[in-house]
Amino acid sequence: MEKSGSTAFSDSRVKLINDYLETNLSRFEKSCSQRFEPLIEAMRYSLEGGGKRLRPILTLSAAEALGLDPKSVLPAACALEYIHTYSLVHDDLPALDDDDTRRGKPSSHKRFGEAVAILAGDALLTEAFGQILLLGESGRFLPAQILGVVDLLAHHSGVRGMVGGQLLDVTIDTSDASLPEIEFIHIHKTGALILASVLIPTKLIPLEEEKIQSFRRYGEALGLAFQISDDLLDSETSVRYSRGPRKKPKPCYTQVMSPSEMKQKLNFLIDHAINSIRSLGDKSQNLVDIAEFIRTRKA
Ligand code: IPE
Ligand code: IPE
Ligand code: MG
Ligand code: MG
Repeated sequence: MEKSGSTAFSDSRVKLINDYLETNLSRFEKSCSQRFEPLIEAMRYSLEGGGKRLRPILTLSAAEALGLDPKSVLPAACALEYIHTYSLVHDDLPALDDDDTRRGKPSSHKRFGEAVAILAGDALLTEAFGQILLLGESGRFLPAQILGVVDLLAHHSGVRGMVGGQLLDVTIDTSDASLPEIEFIHIHKTGALILASVLIPTKLIPLEEEKIQSFRRYGEALGLAFQISDDLLDSETSVRYSRGPRKKPKPCYTQVMSPSEMKQKLNFLIDHAINSIRSLGDKSQNLVDIAEFIRTRKA
């Protein structure tokens, strides 16, 4: 069991995730031809450092809230970070946002060229599903439960989730986007993967529908709150360290709400998220702390 008392963003928890990510990259290195090393280097470059690890931390914390050992869900937590990281690598490409900086460093295509960046993203996405199967290694979960995680992740990261949202994000006419349209994009583009991070552990134990719905309400509110907090941070500084200056406009809340309206909506969603999981008691403290972090985050 992981040492009890780990807080959501504690160094020990972040280290647990980072060590697991590195262990798996080393596994690839050992099991594939040395000629593929440039691909692993590009995967490692984008995976390491700089990221908050919000999504894996959510999965570990949701597992804890259900009485599961957080370590037992590490393969799924890291699969989420793979998918999130691939989405950032592809998002920064010239064909999409054309951003030169990511996680405080040159974006993948600036460092390795577009072709390798596209392939590193492809590899991260594909291997994410291989990672999920490692849930079987602990012997704690049934194959049907693990398949439930695969289904959930495909649903939330693909056409019906993140990629669908990305399509709208890059094709919409940003000059006259309405609030419902912007919200629809954010629910899919950003919210879906955050929701999946929270729901994954609910696939791994038998659970009454009411409890699943509490996690769903928490995850949905948190996903939208995260994007509002991101748009607020964008509006407060012209250049964010992690991303650098933007070249292209994108649909965001600042187009349809004032900063004070955004803060009000953010507070409403965070309160709603926390209230949704209150009945789980002390075990859900880390989920509460993550919601509070999103309310006030500065990075
Ligand atoms: C950035 O996500 C992209 C959005 C969905 C807004 P994060 O802010 O979680 O990025 P990292 O992982 O910390 O770099
Ligand atoms: C990042 O979205 C990628 C996904 C959410 C899939 P954005 O383009 O809105 O975020 P940043 O500003 O590049 O991190
Ligand atoms: Mg984008
Ligand atoms: Mg972008």
